[in-house]
Amino acid sequence: MAAPWKKFVVNACRELPVLQSFRRTVWKDSIRGGFVGMVGKTPLIRLEKLSEETGCDITVKVESSNGGGSVKDRAAVFLIKDALERGQLKPGGTVVEGTAGNTGIGLAHICNAMGFKCVIFMPDTQSQEKIDLLRVLGATVYPVPAVPFTDPDNYNHQAKRYAESLENAIWTNQFDNTANLRAHYETTGPEIWEQTAGKIDAVVFATGTGGTLAGVGKYLKEKNPNVRVFLADPQGSVLYNFIKHNKIERTEGSSITEGIGQGRVTDNFKEAPVDDAFAIYDKDAVYMTFRLLHEEGFFVGASSGINVAGAVEAAKKMGPGHIIATCLCDTGQRYYGRLFNREWLKSKGLLDCLPPEYQTTLH
Ligand SMILES: Cc1ncc(COP(=O)(O)O)c(C=O)c1O
Repeated sequence: MAAPWKKFVVNACRELPVLQSFRRTVWKDSIRGGFVGMVGKTPLIRLEKLSEETGCDITVKVESSNGGGSVKDRAAVFLIKDALERGQLKPGGTVVEGTAGNTGIGLAHICNAMGFKCVIFMPDTQSQEKIDLLRVLGATVYPVPAVPFTDPDNYNHQAKRYAESLENAIWTNQFDNTANLRAHYETTGPEIWEQTAGKIDAVVFATGTGGTLAGVGKYLKEKNPNVRVFLADPQGSVLYNFIKHNKIERTEGSSITEGIGQGRVTDNFKEAPVDDAFAIYDKDAVYMTFRLLHEEGFFVGASSGINVAGAVEAAKKMGPGHIIATCLCDTGQRYYGRLFNREWLKSKGLLDCLPPEYQTTLH
C-alpha cells in the first residue's frame, strides 16, 4: 500500500495545471476523429521470411488497417476533401465514382459519416464481394460492361455523365484528379519516411490510378533523391512498356488482378518519378499471394501479391542490405470466391503455380 505522503503528492500533482494540460494533449493525440481518423497511420511491417531470403528488409504498409479496409481509403478522403474545399459538394449531395471497388468502399464509408449519397459505376469483371459490400454500405452500384477507356460506355465516362445529370453531385474522378496522389504525398510517403527513420532505399507499387506510386514516389524523392521508385505491372497493362520503352503498348495476356494495370497514362501516373519497372506474371503474383498467407501470415488480394513480388525483384536488382517498402492493398476476403477457389484458379490456369501444401486450404 502507498505511504500517505505518496498519496498526497500524487493527488496534488493531479491538479497541477501542467499535468492537466499534458493529459489533454495525450487525449487529443491518441484519440482520432471519426471515420476519417481511421484512415492512415498504418503499420509498416517487416516480412521476416522474405527479408531473410533476399538480405533486404522487405517491408509492407498494411493498408487493410484503414477503416474501409484498403489503400484506397486514403484517396477517398482526399477526393472528398478536395470537392468540399472547392465548394463542389454541399450538404446532402451525391458522390459518384468509377472504381474497381476499393475507392468506392472508402467513399461509401465517408459518405455515411458525412451525410452524402454514394453512387458507384464498376466494371462487371470485379469481385462479387466488393459489390455486395458496397451495397451493404448503402451505395447504389451499377456494374457495367468492362470496355476500354476510349469507349463512351467505359465505367468512368458513365460515372461522369451520371454526376452531371444530378444537382449537387460530384464525380470524384480518381484517375485524373491529382487530389488522389496528394493523399499519398501527404500521408503514405511521410509515414514510410518516418517509420524507416529516413533510411528507406526503395519503394515498389503496382498502379491502378497511379496515385500511390506518384504520391509516395514524389515525397520520398524530395526527401532523398537516391530513393528508388519501381513500378510492378501486371500482364496486359501498358505501363511496363511505357516506362521501359516509352511506348503505349500492352504486355501480353490479361490479368486476374483487380484494381491495377492500365491502358493509358493517367494524370496521377504522369507525376510518378519512376526509375524502373518489373512485369509480374499472374502465376508469380498468385504464388506470392499464397506465400504471404502460408508463410508470412497475411491474407491479402492479388495486387498485394504483385507488390511483394515486385519488392523481391527490387531486392534482387539492388542487392542485399536495402530497405524496401510496398503495401498490402486490401484483404483476401474481398476475393474469397475466386482467388481462394480451386475451380476458379484451375479455370484461369493458375492452380498449378501453387505447391500442393498451399492448395490444401482452397475451397
Ligand atoms: C486492390 C487494389 N490494389 C491496388 C490499387 C492501386 O492503387 P492506385 O490507384 O493508388 O494506383 C487499387 C486501386 O484501385 C486496388 O483496388
